[in-house]
Amino acid sequence: MNRTEDTTGLFRLGVLVSGSGSNLQSIIDSLHEGGSGIEVALVISDNLQAYGLKRATIAGIPTAVFPLGDFADRAAHDLAMADELDRHGVDLVVLAGYMLLVTPAFLKRFPRRVINLHPSLLPAFPGDTPIEDTMDYGARVTGVTVHFVDEGTDTGPIILQEAVEIKYNDTVDSLRERIHTVEHRLLPRAIELIAGGRLRFDEDNPRRVLA
Ligand code: GRF
Repeated sequence: MNRTEDTTGLFRLGVLVSGSGSNLQSIIDSLHEGGSGIEVALVISDNLQAYGLKRATIAGIPTAVFPLGDFADRAAHDLAMADELDRHGVDLVVLAGYMLLVTPAFLKRFPRRVINLHPSLLPAFPGDTPIEDTMDYGARVTGVTVHFVDEGTDTGPIILQEAVEIKYNDTVDSLRERIHTVEHRLLPRAIELIAGGRLRFDEDNPRRVLA
């Protein structure tokens, strides 16, 4: 995996958020402010009200807002976002609670350089409401997946996964809280693996990501 360095020599992240941004905060705390050689160069949201934007501003990180309604279509929206990410010299795009699907044209601009965080053990329970779906199904184990983004919904090659037990007295909120704790550890670790050039795709099966 190629690493593009800017003059500071830091590996640069563009983080996309739609809401609270607790995962953005974990990246800020453990990587951006942690002397890791990795910095958040830009935070983008589709939602002006996203608390993640405030977290970025508090940390002195540039932000940009791209509401879907300001653009003729999805493609125009995503291309404008891609231009902004390029202007900030971003090496890796991290979808951290970003609720819109990105378009194929966007992915072409950042080949194998867009990752997503999903609160289930994929391929089980993809989509928008995985925690609710897992509970409704009566599953006893769920977890967290960090994966590369491809053109499908939550279908890209898996980087890291960790299981979370579902307790009999769990509610959606209590389970979400334990999942978040795992997410806050797993996402920064996946970013470090990529930034350090410690991942490669299996030549025989590009779905398999080797660490
Ligand atoms: C996380 O659970 C993530 O897995 C999902 O959206 C949630 C975002 O949480 N894609 P936060 O905004 O980082 O707090």
